[in-house]
Formats: sequence, C-alpha cells, structure tokens
Amino acid sequence: MNQYASRIIGTGAAFPETRRTNADLSKLVDTNDEWIRERTGIQERRVSRRGDPNEYNSSLGYRAALSALEMAGKTAADIDAIVYATCSPDTLVPSTACWLQQKLGAKRAWAMDVNAACSGFVYGATVADKFLSTGSAKTILVVGAEVLNPFVDWTDRTSCILFGDGAGAMVLERVAGDNPQRILSSHLQSDGSLWEVFHLPAGGSNQEVTAEVIEARDHKMKMKGKEIFKVAVKTLADFAVQALEANNMTTNDLDWLVPHQANLRIIEAVAKRLDFPMEKVIVNIERYGNTSAATVPTAFDEAVRSGKIKPGQTVLFDVFGAGLTYGSLLLRW
Ligand SMILES: CC(C)(COP(=O)(O)OP(=O)(O)OC[C@H]1O[C@@H](n2cnc3c(N)ncnc32)[C@H](O)[C@@H]1OP(=O)(O)O)[C@@H](O)C(=O)NCCC(=O)NCCS
Repeated sequence: MNQYASRIIGTGAAFPETRRTNADLSKLVDTNDEWIRERTGIQERRVSRRGDPNEYNSSLGYRAALSALEMAGKTAADIDAIVYATCSPDTLVPSTACWLQQKLGAKRAWAMDVNAACSGFVYGATVADKFLSTGSAKTILVVGAEVLNPFVDWTDRTSCILFGDGAGAMVLERVAGDNPQRILSSHLQSDGSLWEVFHLPAGGSNQEVTAEVIEARDHKMKMKGKEIFKVAVKTLADFAVQALEANNMTTNDLDWLVPHQANLRIIEAVAKRLDFPMEKVIVNIERYGNTSAATVPTAFDEAVRSGKIKPGQTVLFDVFGAGLTYGSLLLRW
C-alpha cells in the first residue's frame, strides 16, 4: 500500500447563460428536433457569448472552481496546483490554467493546461492524483472546461448538433493510502493514428488561419461521426472492464458509471455491453450536449449535489476523445 492516496473533496459546475435548443439549430442548418433527439439524446446545449469576458473559458472555470472550493471548505490560498483540461483555451499562451490562477488569486499554485480533448478531465485528475499520492502536493484544483462555440462549424449539421460549452471543477486532497474514500485507480491510453476521425486542421503552428483556410472551413472541427461511434462504444466498454478487473471488482461492485457524454446512444450501447443498468448511469447530455472535457465533472457534480451519488459509493469515470484518447478513473466517493 502507498503511504498516500488522493480523494475528491469538492465539486462544482458552471454553464453559459444562452440555451440553444434543437429548434434554434433547425434555423441554422437542415435538421429537426426529432432527428437530433433520436440520434443523440440531446435537447439543448449552452453556448458562450463570443467576446463576453464573463463567458470566457477561464470565467466558466472560475465559477466552477469557486463552487468546488466552497464544498471542499478550502480557499484559493490552499491550492498547490491547478490542472486545467481543455482543448479550447482562452489563449494558446498563457495557459487557461494561468488565467484562472490570476482570477482566483491562487498565488502559491503552479498551473498548467492538459489537452486530451474530451478525455481531458480524467487525464488532468490522473496527473493530480499522482502528485498527491507521491506526497508532492496536498491540494490540487482540477478543471475540465470548454468554450467550443468558435470551433464548431455551425454550417455542418452532422457535427454542430452535438457540442456545448461548460465547466466542471474538483478539489482533490492528499489522504492516507488506506483512506476508504479515495481514487482507486486510473488508466490512460492514446492512439494518435486515429487523428483524422476528429481534428481541427488550422489555428496551430502547422497552419495559420488565412483567408483560404476560412474559405475551406479548415478553422473548424472536422468529424467522422460514424467511425468515432464504433470505436467509442468498444473502448468505453473495454476500459470499464479493465478498471474493474484491476481492482478485483465486477459491475456488481459499481454503484455509478459516469461516462463521457457524446451521444446517448453510445452511452446506452456501452451499458448494454457491460450488462449494467441505465438507472445507474449518470446522464446530463439532454441539457448540455457534448461539453468535451467538462462532461464528466459537470455530470458528477450534479449527481453529488442532488444526492444521487452518496458518500462511500463506488464510481467509474469512463471517457474517450479526439487524439484519440481514452481513460478511466475509479473512485470511492
Ligand atoms: C454524428 C452522429 C450523431 C450521426 O448519427 P448517425 O446515426 O451515425 O447518422 P448518420 O451519419 O448515419 O446519418 C444518417 C442520415 O441522417 C442525415 N443527417 C446527419 N445529420 C443530420 C442532422 N443533424 N439532421 C438531420 N439529418 C441528419 C445524414 O445525412 C444521413 O442521411 P442519408 O441516410 O440520407 O445519407 C453519430 O454518428 C455520433 O454521435 N457519432 C459520435 C460523434 C462523437 O462522439 N463526436 C465527439 C468525439 S469526442
């Protein structure tokens, strides 16, 4: 047994004000409410107001972080590190983590971004867990937040229906290695050979955003939905089994599954493969869509605050994202 482990002691979430319903989308592209509900389970999503400092990525992260700190009974002065999972940063430099550090006044903290797209929160929480369980830090704030609005192609009906903006945060604290409530394990894996199924061609150092790029819409996210769907179902199921087996558990030992919210049909297919009841799967996709790195922490926060997930219960985070990236994190809340 290790001397230390880590435990989640506070959670928080924040969303932009503006709701964009399926009916709103049907005014932008050739789609309709029935198709989107049936194929994705999404009814509406939140969209950040462009250029409004109150709805910058770090501003949503700030609101989520304040809630998480409050639940944890901590202040900004207690934070040793901020790990910020996002693929839609405020700016490329400095990191969104540093923007948040400044907003919080967390003067002692080191801060960095993690980009694993939709898997980002589990990657970030794993980094935090390792620093805490080696004794290198005592309190770490992990945020998963996205403002995808500028990167979504609002003329592409096959992708724009899926995404939304939001932020989730958790405070992790160092505890004794045998503390019953702790992170039990995490597993990460990536497959860069599958980059093409979800990518954003321009805006990085390979390709500036020029007039030609805008004309070709290469400054917007490109997605091969069907291909992702298949990989996602298989990998989410495999990762769930791997996490449980590593802890000598079966699905009977699991109280709640919190999967990445990309499509309700993906989530249902995973539950079916695992023979795990949908009543024990946390779902918030109908109201927020796919908020990428924010889906798991916002869904978990909501389930904890509503009393659904209770202290002492075993919970599995199970995610996939662009890269492709995959991950799981098993914990006792
Ligand atoms: C994108 C996704 C919702 C599409 O659902 P699907 O059931 O695979 O639908 P298809 O792509 O087979 O399209 C079926 C038909 O609906 C049409 N269609 C696509 N989008 C539509 C929309 N928004 N409204 C109405 N019709 C639409 C297609 O053109 C196609 O028409 P056709 O049969 O005449 O060619 C689904 O594949 C998905 O969610 N994939 C995973 C994406 C994901 O997770 N992305 C994030 C990665 S982290």
